[in-house]
Amino acid sequence: MSELNLVLLGPPGSGKGTQGERLQEDLELPYWATGDILRAAVREGTELGRAAKGYMDRGDLVPDEVIVGMIGQRIDSPEAADGFILDGFPRTAPQAEALAAKLEELVRELTAVLLIDVADEEVVRRLGGRRTCVENGHVFHVEFSPPREEGVCDIDGGELVIRDDDKPEVIRHRLEQYHAKTAPLVEHYDGQGLLRRIDGTSSPESVAEEIRRTLATLRLEADEAI
Ligand code: AP5
Repeated sequence: MSELNLVLLGPPGSGKGTQGERLQEDLELPYWATGDILRAAVREGTELGRAAKGYMDRGDLVPDEVIVGMIGQRIDSPEAADGFILDGFPRTAPQAEALAAKLEELVRELTAVLLIDVADEEVVRRLGGRRTCVENGHVFHVEFSPPREEGVCDIDGGELVIRDDDKPEVIRHRLEQYHAKTAPLVEHYDGQGLLRRIDGTSSPESVAEEIRRTLATLRLEADEAI
């Protein structure tokens, strides 16, 4: 398999960020999480951040045209020559169409869409206890993956905070948005033979192991097809 172009799909709190960080280390590919990019823009007070903040605080999706340009530029960069890992994009049918058009223009294809499957009740439990590093977005959970020192990121020493959109009423709205706008992509990618379902309910280590096995199978299938 010459390049690995992956999408992580799943409801809020399913563990996309947790697994994305591990995958980035394992595969040494660029990892782009749209939520992290937007939060950095909000912190820096850029035009993008000012445009996105209100939507994010309410748990609404940021308009497609803002997001599509942001990711298109990255895929089209030398950094992505061997592949990429996208987390949180695409999230709507127009975003999926824009991604397909961009890849077609670059004569490239998606390798797989990894759906991290978790039920809504588990999402609420997880996001209620999540703590996020203000520096680089590393994620912890007060119960399931606590930091060594309370309130401090193990990786870069940054402060751990509760995200503005992790309030209970906002979590519920984000879930509604997911079911209305993002969940239809599951069928879309399944129809294209790209979807791989990952059980997101076991421990982070077991989920990572299932993803590794899935990617190993994809590599075998690609080798057999040559
Ligand atoms: P974004 O940051 O992408 O939020 P999200 O999709 O809601 O995902 P999360 O970051 O909440 O969760 P996650 O799946 O990464 O889970 P995590 O690993 O942290 O987007 C935020 C906002 O930006 C959106 O609402 C929207 O406004 C905007 N936006 C972003 N992309 C957009 C787009 N494409 N279009 C339009 N708008 C866009 O894990 C959660 C918690 O669970 C953590 O505490 C973790 O430690 C714990 N955990 C993880 N795995 C496990 C496990 N296996 N067992 C137990 N606990 C676990």
